[in-house]
Amino acid sequence: MTHARTADHEISPIFTSRWSPRALTGEAIDDRTLHALFEAARWAPSANNSQPWRFVYSKKDSSSWPAFVGLLNERNQAWARKASVLIVLLSKTTHVRPDASEATPLYSHSLDAGAAWASLAFQAEHSGWRTHAIGGFDRVQAKAVLNVPDGYRVEVVVAIGKQADRAELSAELQEREQPNQRKPIAQFVAEGRFGFED
Ligand SMILES: Cc1cc2nc3c(=O)[nH]c(=O)nc-3n(C[C@H](O)[C@H](O)[C@H](O)COP(=O)(O)O)c2cc1C
Repeated sequence: MTHARTADHEISPIFTSRWSPRALTGEAIDDRTLHALFEAARWAPSANNSQPWRFVYSKKDSSSWPAFVGLLNERNQAWARKASVLIVLLSKTTHVRPDASEATPLYSHSLDAGAAWASLAFQAEHSGWRTHAIGGFDRVQAKAVLNVPDGYRVEVVVAIGKQADRAELSAELQEREQPNQRKPIAQFVAEGRFGFED
């Protein structure tokens, strides 16, 4: 049974309808759609407007596809090989500030890349595509395979595809194939002082 997501406060349905399925059709994604996702990411906020996010992608069945799938651990390969595109998200760890001539460390490089990925995910949802972030992959191998120079952090892989029937998945994954729930706001929002138990 699929558990519906219900927001406790009125919000745009895009926030609760986005979720990360594993059953994907593997159908081709067109460049127009893909570029719209990167366009959404482009407008994310970042410190000093540094825009430290970098996206390196591979479309299913392209020549780079086997190498991208090969970065994932086996559990993730089992479902993500049916994605339409795999994107490796990186962040540049330094930035030349507007009043400086030399690059200095950018404290928020991962935070800013996270904002960009969230924008991409909601645009995908808006366009009828699903996204699924993947942390289970080999970051060292990713740097080598993608020819990433020093000064970049490999953040996450994002699988994008059209949702398929859950019957496509193994019995174990079928059981987990439903939107999950969230902590109540009181567990992560406090006024005035920290005041959380964990
Ligand atoms: C940084 C990051 C790493 C993740 N790694 C994996 C992963 O390796 N495998 C996987 O199946 N899901 C992975 N996920 C998906 C999360 O489990 C999922 O986003 C979370 O349970 C919330 O569910 P939802 O996205 O459906 O709302 C990852 C998500 C993020 C943001």
